[in-house]
Amino acid sequence: MSAQPPGVERILFTEEQVSQRIQEVAAEISAKYRGRELKLVGVLKGSIFFLTALARAIEIPVKIDFLSISSFSGKKGPSSGLVRIAKDLDESIEGEDVLLVEDIVDTGFTIRYLLQTLAGRGPNSMGLCTLLDRTSRRIVQVPVDFRCFEIGDHFVIGCGLDYKQLYRNLGYIAVMNPQILER
Ligand code: PRP
Repeated sequence: MSAQPPGVERILFTEEQVSQRIQEVAAEISAKYRGRELKLVGVLKGSIFFLTALARAIEIPVKIDFLSISSFSGKKGPSSGLVRIAKDLDESIEGEDVLLVEDIVDTGFTIRYLLQTLAGRGPNSMGLCTLLDRTSRRIVQVPVDFRCFEIGDHFVIGCGLDYKQLYRNLGYIAVMNPQILER
């Protein structure tokens, strides 16, 4: 096994724990949407690893599309209340069962905006599935239909989550080393 990178302080969830939990949540999703087709909408970039693993574990037919968001100030990231779609979906969601897929829900601003915006396009249903739910930082309440893990107020990396665009490809979820982290 290779040494942990310097950004890792400690592992919160191992690759095995993440994989196991994704299987469980995928089974819940398959049961809820049984008999239907589901469109997974990934919010770039953080969701890509989670969405890929989730889609492979879901046992009903799925379609996949992506969008990305940014803030009006141009400064990406959580805790900005003003977000907009920077890259829109490729296809219509009218009449579809849509499940937004996120790596983390933090303040809730991003998801509130996306749920409101996409609901206006006439989907049959809208839901939310997130790998991590950091409820301690929530500012606006959003409905979380499926989540793998709730976490405390840690800066986390891995499984799609980054620090300065690095560490997304770690198979586990780790707390970022505070000596490297610039707050
Ligand atoms: C993260 C995450 C969510 C958003 C959650 O994205 O992927 O989209 O922040 O924060 P909120 O609940 O406070 O709105 P980020 O801007 O870090 O982009 P990334 O997915 O490209 O890493």
